[in-house]
Amino acid sequence: MDADSLWFNGHALTMGEAGVVRDAAIAVRGGRIAWVGPRAAMPDIRAAEEHDLEGRWVTPGLIDAHTHLVFGGNRAHEFEMRLEGASYEEIARAGGGIVSTVKATRAAGAEELAASAARRLERLLAEGVTVVEVKSGYGLDLESERAMLRAARALGERYPVTVRTTCLAAHAVAPEYAGRADAYVDLVCGEILPALAAEGLVDAVDAFCERIAFSPEQTARVFDAAKALGLPVKLHADQLSDGGGAALAARYGALSADHLEHTSEEGVRAMAAAGTVAMLLPGAFYLLRETKLPPVELFRRHGVPMAVATDCNPGTSPAVSLLLMLNMACTLFRLTPMEALAGVTRNAARALGMHATHGTLEAGKAADFAAWDVGHPAELCYWLGANPCARVVKDGRAVA
Ligand code: NIG
Ligand code: FE
Repeated sequence: MDADSLWFNGHALTMGEAGVVRDAAIAVRGGRIAWVGPRAAMPDIRAAEEHDLEGRWVTPGLIDAHTHLVFGGNRAHEFEMRLEGASYEEIARAGGGIVSTVKATRAAGAEELAASAARRLERLLAEGVTVVEVKSGYGLDLESERAMLRAARALGERYPVTVRTTCLAAHAVAPEYAGRADAYVDLVCGEILPALAAEGLVDAVDAFCERIAFSPEQTARVFDAAKALGLPVKLHADQLSDGGGAALAARYGALSADHLEHTSEEGVRAMAAAGTVAMLLPGAFYLLRETKLPPVELFRRHGVPMAVATDCNPGTSPAVSLLLMLNMACTLFRLTPMEALAGVTRNAARALGMHATHGTLEAGKAADFAAWDVGHPAELCYWLGANPCARVVKDGRAVA
C-alpha cells in the first residue's frame, strides 16, 4: 500500500474497538488514516515520509465540542462580585451577565473579535485540539450573530482546526426586547435562524433553557424552527435548575444536552432513548462554585455517552485548557480518566454529529491525532497546568 506518511514507535490509545495498541503504526493517505495497528502486523506500506513517535502515547486529536470562543471584553468584574456573594442569576437579572458581553461584543470590531478569539484558540490548539465547536449568542441581532459566526468560521481558515458553528441566538433576550421574550423568539425563528442558515453559517442550533433565559415552550419554538431548516439541535439544559431541559432536548433528538447538573432520572432516560450525549462542563461548575453534581452515575447506568468541554466563555468558564477540564471532570465529577478521555474524543465527536469521521484512531477516519510525552494516558487527566503535547497531526499534516 502507498501512503503519504507513516507514524511509528508510539502507543496508540485508539478510543475505538482496538483499545490500546502498543508499539503501533499509523499510515496516512489523503488526510485520512489508511491503516492503524501493531507495527508487527503492519502490511507492506511504502510511505513518502516516516515519523518516529519516540515511544510517546498517541490519541485522536482532542475535540472541544462546546465553546463560546468568540466574544468581546471579559467579565472579571462579575467574578469579583460573585466572590463577594452575588449569584450568577442575581447579576443576570440586574442587567449584567450575558447581556453585558452582548454590549462588548457588538462594540468590538470584527478585527478585535477575531484577534481575541484567535488568542484563546491558540491555547486550545497547543494542547492537541483539532476540532472545536464555536457558538454565537453574544450578538442577539442578525448582523451581530452573523459577525460572530463569520469570525468563528474564519478561525478554521487561518488555523489547522475544524470549526463547527452553532447558532445560539436564543442565549438571552436581546436588550432591545427586554420584557418581550416571545417577540425576541419570533425574531430568532422568523429572521435570524433562516437568514444565517441560508448563508451556510450554521451547523447546529442551541438555546439556553433556564429561568433567566428561555422557557421550555420558547425553546421548543426555536427547535421547531431549527428542524424546519433541517438543522440539528443541542441545549444548555438544567444548569441552574431542573426545567426539564434534558427531556426536551431528547424529544427533539438533540445531539447533546449540556451542563445537566439538575437533570432528573426521567431526563436521563429520555436522553438514553434518543442517543443524546451528556455534555459535562466542569469549568462552569467550578467557577460558579456549584454544589449540585450532574447525575454521572445515572448516565453510566442508562448508557448515556458523556462528553467533556471547556465551555470557554467570559461569564461562567473562562477556560482555555481542555486538559484542565479533563482533570476537573475526574476530580469534581468523578469520571474515570478513560471516561474523561472518551469525553474529549469519541463522545465529543458524537456530540457534534461527527462520529463517522472523527474521534477515534481507526482506518477511514480523519488523520487527526496528538502525541504526548506521558508514561500513561491517565497522566493527561492528572497534571495541573502542564502541557505534555509533543506533536499534532491535522488531516494528515504535521502542524506541531
Ligand atoms: O454555557 N449558560 C449559559 N451560557 C454560558 C454562559 C454565558 C455567559 O455567562 O456569558 C454557559 O455557561
Ligand atoms: Fe455554554
